[in-house]
Amino acid sequence: MEKIILTGDRPTGRLHVGHYVGSLKRRVELQNSGEYDKIYIMIADAQALTDNADNPEKVRQNIMEVALDYLSVGLDPAKSTLFIQSMVPELTELTFYYSNLVTVSRLQRNPTVKAEIQMRNFEASIPVGFFTYPISQAADITAFKATTVPVGEDQMPMLEQCKEIVHKFNSVYGETLVDPKILLPDNEACLRLPGIDGKAKMSKSLGNCIYLSDTEQDVRKKVMSMFTDPLHLKVEDPGHIEGNTVFTYLDAFSNQGHFEEFWPEYSCLDELKDHYKRGGLGDVKVKKFLNKVLQAELAPIRERRKMWEKDLHAVYEILKKGSETAQQAAAQTLKEVKAAMKINYFDNEDMIREYLEKNS
Ligand code: TRP
Repeated sequence: MEKIILTGDRPTGRLHVGHYVGSLKRRVELQNSGEYDKIYIMIADAQALTDNADNPEKVRQNIMEVALDYLSVGLDPAKSTLFIQSMVPELTELTFYYSNLVTVSRLQRNPTVKAEIQMRNFEASIPVGFFTYPISQAADITAFKATTVPVGEDQMPMLEQCKEIVHKFNSVYGETLVDPKILLPDNEACLRLPGIDGKAKMSKSLGNCIYLSDTEQDVRKKVMSMFTDPLHLKVEDPGHIEGNTVFTYLDAFSNQGHFEEFWPEYSCLDELKDHYKRGGLGDVKVKKFLNKVLQAELAPIRERRKMWEKDLHAVYEILKKGSETAQQAAAQTLKEVKAAMKINYFDNEDMIREYLEKNS
């Protein structure tokens, strides 16, 4: 069986370092591993519209932003198909058929949807499209026969629901759809990178994100203002690592090489943490180190972004071509789905033969 990746992001804002450690970096590694036959990376504009119906401008503007983010982290259009969800209408057709296999109560139990409904104050009036987006996400995944879906842990319930749809479809209509596997980030700290204020999650509305497109100065300012340990008032005080954003970021970003290059006094992160816990190590020093680590990671991304920004026509063509490629792949799956569901009336004239057999 072919090894196929599908994943994507809603274009509701620029991508930030949480996206980077949580998924983008991994995608690039997977892309460059050469282990996958096909890789599809989707800008999920249709899904973004499920809770931004009255804000189409926002979704539209962020298509280019996200495409630039993708290209600047090193996704390579020669190896990965970058495409826009709504340009593949087969996905909505699949969603329509899959929706017969899902109950309202099952959707109500989806923990991610539940949390999002609360966050958006949708309790009293949930848009149907938003409520059912897990079904559309199952269409995204299965349309491309994805075997591997690299996403953050918040997407686990979507994958579970997708797998249920696959099993149900295959048991009702015969073996047709591919059962996907989720691929979670392997570094604990990358599962959910907090915002610079230490709040649970980076989010545009909280203004606590470090964006991939931030300038060097922006990043430095944000790092220096990061939430640390409120009990670590004087340098001599023993410090706490738990819930200390600077250390969470170091867990996510730093490696041996960074210590050798920027702070050879310490051999590794554990040694640095021990010193901080004992006391005698100031926050500013640690922040300066984190800044160097982040800048080292972000500088090449910034450079590539500048390059692509000079050639937006090329970006446009990449999305257009990618969307065509994706549409063709999804059309093939839809054909197989319709054949399995026996709604492929004009593939052949069997309908006539079946009528005659029944009525003879
Ligand atoms: N729900 C994902 C997000 O919010 C985006 C997405 C849409 C997706 N369809 C997908 C991710 C299919 C993985 C597979 O970022």
